[in-house]
Amino acid sequence: MNTYTVSKLLTSEQFGQEVEIKGWVRTFRANRFIALNDGSTLNNIQCVVDFENTAEETLKRITTGAAVHIKGELVESQGKGQNVEIVVSSIEILGDSDPESYPIQPKKHSFEFLRENAHLRTRTNTFSAVMRLRSTLSFAIHKYFNDNGFYYMHTPIITGSDAEGAGEMFRITSLDAKNPPLNEAGEVDFKEDFFGKETNLTVSGQLEAETYAMSLGKVYTFGPTFRAENSNTSRHLSEFWMIEPEVAFMDLAGNMDLAEDFMKFVLKYVLDNNREDLEFLEKRLLDEEKTKPQAERSEMSLIEKLNFVIDNNFKRVSYTEAIDILKNSKPNKKKKFKYIIEEWGADLQSEHERFLVEKHFKCPVILFDYPANIKAFYMRLNEDGKTVRAMDILFPGIGEIVGGSQREERLEVLKEKMQALNIPEEELWWYLDLRKYGTAVHSGFGLGFERLVMFATGMTNIRDVIPFPRTPHNAEF
Ligand code: 4AD
Ligand code: MG
Repeated sequence: MNTYTVSKLLTSEQFGQEVEIKGWVRTFRANRFIALNDGSTLNNIQCVVDFENTAEETLKRITTGAAVHIKGELVESQGKGQNVEIVVSSIEILGDSDPESYPIQPKKHSFEFLRENAHLRTRTNTFSAVMRLRSTLSFAIHKYFNDNGFYYMHTPIITGSDAEGAGEMFRITSLDAKNPPLNEAGEVDFKEDFFGKETNLTVSGQLEAETYAMSLGKVYTFGPTFRAENSNTSRHLSEFWMIEPEVAFMDLAGNMDLAEDFMKFVLKYVLDNNREDLEFLEKRLLDEEKTKPQAERSEMSLIEKLNFVIDNNFKRVSYTEAIDILKNSKPNKKKKFKYIIEEWGADLQSEHERFLVEKHFKCPVILFDYPANIKAFYMRLNEDGKTVRAMDILFPGIGEIVGGSQREERLEVLKEKMQALNIPEEELWWYLDLRKYGTAVHSGFGLGFERLVMFATGMTNIRDVIPFPRTPHNAEF
């Protein structure tokens, strides 16, 4: 392991000290200057090779991508843009890298190309910055809940239920493909799937988290979730990570407060702790913006956007108010949405959500009290008998980032709802037990982690904020 890191060396002022460092060569210039990176920071440390006293054979092996072990003296640098450099006294090539075939050349690569080389793309500045930010955000999330008295709960990946009731599940099988059990009609009997039970990969840990909220009070889960929806968009993955807090004795208003406070905390945390990476990504975006026509350019820079979210209240708007706004709006030059909302009860499309956030309110929006029939079975029915205590949080550039609700705590109402939707009581008997024994108001939400990482990094394709994206027809790595 490295005793020093490039990050520590670059801020050290212990000139004259003997140091050693292992890392990967980014570039090697004039047979003399190595730009070395070890992943600890965006920046490279310059290592100056005494080429006259270094074997020709070694010099040839200092190529982009090679792993090297360098020893030398830390000195003040004469070069522009750096304070320190290493005067190399010895260099050992740990792993060669053939410059002809190495995919990550010292030039600009397209994100499409880098996606095909996802195993190497974190050797670029953009992806190393994004993934360091992803790591920090993940830590900040655990920190927030830990600081606020929540328990971290591990919900199962293999489940027997469909938490969202949307039927978008990947089925698990232990069946012998060559000799599957057959039912009376001679078809494969999937009921035998998981050693005798039909199971799937979890779409959400919520239902299990509810059981712990109803005993430990405040809990959260943060793990992978899976959706078998065939949507090939820049915001959907088949495997994504979700953060789901669940809290007893908390109503929908409390849920909104929690979500807003939590999102602000984690974004502030990265602003305070990953400034260098954010500034790099901000500059990348500004350069990209310059290639666009003036009218399409963003009004705020990345860091301004993060500060804006932290400093301003999220706008809370009921579904009914939102529909009125949308009906009376002219969203673009054609003055029309592609999908026109005819009446109360229709589901909002992403064009409507984006209009509300980006054009109308120009700030994060919490939409609440949705029509019952476009939301999941477990949401608390309102006194009007037609809306449920649901909330979706919409973010600029992202659209829906959080979905949550107050849960239906009344046994009879929940049973009726399940019956209407053909959800068998036997499947969720344990979930119904929570309403039978000591039921209470409780609420929670789910934050799509990758959508949060997109917002914090300014990346526009969800495939670029998760190490190895799983999308329909894509599981190369
Ligand atoms: O709105 P969803 O489906 O809500 C739930 O799963 C609830 N059980 C959460 C809860 O109340 N505990 O998903 C929550 C969030 C969405 O707002 C979105 O950010 C993200 O998860 N999400 C996805 N992210 C990436 N790819 C997909 N296919 C996603 N589907 C949902
Ligand atoms: Mg949702």
